[in-house]
Amino acid sequence: MEGIEKVIRFLDETKTYYLATVEGDQPRVRPFGTAMLYNGKLYIQTGKAKAVSRQLAADPKAEICAFNGKKWLRIAGELVNDEDRAAKVAMLEKYPELKGMYDPDDGNTQVLYFKNAVATFSSFTEAPEIIRF
Ligand SMILES: Cc1cc2nc3c(=O)[nH]c(=O)nc-3n(C[C@H](O)[C@H](O)[C@H](O)COP(=O)(O)O)c2cc1C
Repeated sequence: MEGIEKVIRFLDETKTYYLATVEGDQPRVRPFGTAMLYNGKLYIQTGKAKAVSRQLAADPKAEICAFNGKKWLRIAGELVNDEDRAAKVAMLEKYPELKGMYDPDDGNTQVLYFKNAVATFSSFTEAPEIIRF
């Protein structure tokens, strides 16, 4: 299994992760759930109307953290906006429950992929495992 696939599998398993962004010198964090492997990249989904989207537009640096009861995963990198309609469609197909709120052509639906990502799996018992993508 390729490293990025292991990362996606972990996020699928934990379901919820926490996404941190920066707003000036103030960290911001909130729960997120969307994660998709598409064209070899890790994508997440949000709405352009949200503060998180505005923060990422101003400063793409982000970090996410998820915990499965045993290991935790942190991914630090930059989140890049992608207007590829097919990526938005694929995201809504993976999370059909979002279709009540989002549509690929609503001008709000946003997908972003990780660039310069350093993913680290940690635990209390094993050495950290680092995956870059
Ligand atoms: C379990 C869970 C998963 C969530 N997943 C997402 C998500 O993938 N994308 C999203 O935009 N909002 C998601 N939300 C909602 C955001 O946490 C919420 O809109 C938050 O206020 C956005 O951050 P902001 O207020 O800084 O913009 C999720 C909420 C919960 C409780």
